[in-house]
Amino acid sequence: MLDLMTDKTHNEERQGEAYAPFANDLNQYKKRFYIESYGCQMNFSDSEIVASILNKEGYGATRNLEEADLIFINTCSVREKAEQTVRKRLTEFRKLKVANKGMLVGVLGCMAERLKTKFLEEEKLVDIVVGPDAYRALPQLVSEAESGQKAINVLLSREETYADIAPIRLDSNGVTAFVSIMRGCNNMCTFCVVPFTRGRERSRDAVSIVAECRDVFERGFKEVTLLGQNVDSYYYTPENGDATAPPVNFAQLLEMVANISPELRVRFSTSHPKDITDEVLYTMAKYENICKYIHLPVQSGSTRILQLMNRTYTKEWYMAKVDRIKEIMPDCGISSDIIAGFCTEEEQDHIDTLNVMRYSKYDLSYTFAYSVRPGTLAERRFEDDVPNDVKKRRLAEIVDLQNKLSLESNQKDIGKTFKVLIESDSKRSETDWMGRSSQNKVVVFPKNNSNLKKGDYVNVLVHDCSKATLIGSICN
Ligand code: SAH
Ligand code: SF4
Ligand code: F3S
Repeated sequence: MLDLMTDKTHNEERQGEAYAPFANDLNQYKKRFYIESYGCQMNFSDSEIVASILNKEGYGATRNLEEADLIFINTCSVREKAEQTVRKRLTEFRKLKVANKGMLVGVLGCMAERLKTKFLEEEKLVDIVVGPDAYRALPQLVSEAESGQKAINVLLSREETYADIAPIRLDSNGVTAFVSIMRGCNNMCTFCVVPFTRGRERSRDAVSIVAECRDVFERGFKEVTLLGQNVDSYYYTPENGDATAPPVNFAQLLEMVANISPELRVRFSTSHPKDITDEVLYTMAKYENICKYIHLPVQSGSTRILQLMNRTYTKEWYMAKVDRIKEIMPDCGISSDIIAGFCTEEEQDHIDTLNVMRYSKYDLSYTFAYSVRPGTLAERRFEDDVPNDVKKRRLAEIVDLQNKLSLESNQKDIGKTFKVLIESDSKRSETDWMGRSSQNKVVVFPKNNSNLKKGDYVNVLVHDCSKATLIGSICN
């Protein structure tokens, strides 16, 4: 999912004071909180809701761990390694807690949901445990913890979408913002813990989504990414059943957001191949400002494995979907998630995966070795029988192939001109800009003393590339 599976750095340049929750004058706040996020973009987006809830109660955000009264860690359970990283971090926080007696530590997100009271049973590790649907209870839970009680709320909800809460943009570049459009997941892919940690799928009120996107645009942001575990099954039915307010599907929502302004780029993540419709593809094609990029996780290229994963499509069905995308939008970028070494995977299944990758010509793939998650259907039904070294070798082959495909895809762009939205200085040099094309490719080019700034659109002619980056120059 985008650049989502890793922790985000905290050193990005910021823009727009109205959106800066890191108050300069911390004395105006009764307490200071520090929040660190792991996992998918939904989690980062949730942290912005948490910041908003705490801010209203008089808590100010700080980037400095040492000066925090409250430390929150928003956690991910998707693979065992993600949980191990959080565990390590918590033991570091414990040291701070011992030194600073008043400091409280809270675990938020998917690990909180999965492990519930377990965290509270470990001495001096955690004071507050809050699941993804219970963030409104945070101020109350903080008070309870301050009075020495162990505070926990891990109730999942069928309705909660935090629709009315205006997120505080943490660590934003001031150009791109993430807007949550739904929560939970009903899909039950057998390997996946998300339906257990995030609960039932529910869609957020379309009017509140459009209002948030408009607000973001009016504050100077130029791109919104609509977020959900499976955005194509977005379906909002207004509660009053009013004929003037009919239900809204994902294609219609996309169109509503695209119509805010041609200057506002629209992206979305993630699409489930079984649910992305022609209506969505045609809507994408119709609006220049809906980015021509689809993250379409295949997971495996073997129909037999896909069936065991409960993905509900075959290899052929997936390839036909790729054809359809390219038919309607020949210039559309496609990326994927791939799991190596799922239960019972044979060499031929693995070869099928490599073949589907070649067929789809992915620009990018996020690749993982299968990791058994407690409580999932796969854990209960199948044996994790692919030896670790085999998983690793297959994963390495998938990564190698993807590197080759990414390079080939970028080489095809040499000589072409792309409209790029400038996001920041390039990582390597302050004399270069970094931005993205509609296809979500990173483009780097010299500033050339022009008057351009972050958030501007510029046409860039590509003349070189690596597997990760297009290199070009501004063209007039
Ligand atoms: N809702 C998104 C993905 C959520 S998790 C979707 O359906 O695409 C992100 C990715 O993590 C998944 O696409 C999958 O490739 C990977 N993943 C999930 N569970 C995993 C597990 N148990 N082991 C390894 N990778 C896993
Ligand atoms: Fe997990 Fe599947 Fe739902 Fe994605 S669609 S969150 S992989 S269950
Ligand atoms: Fe991880 Fe939860 Fe997202 S398990 S991937 S943070 S929904």
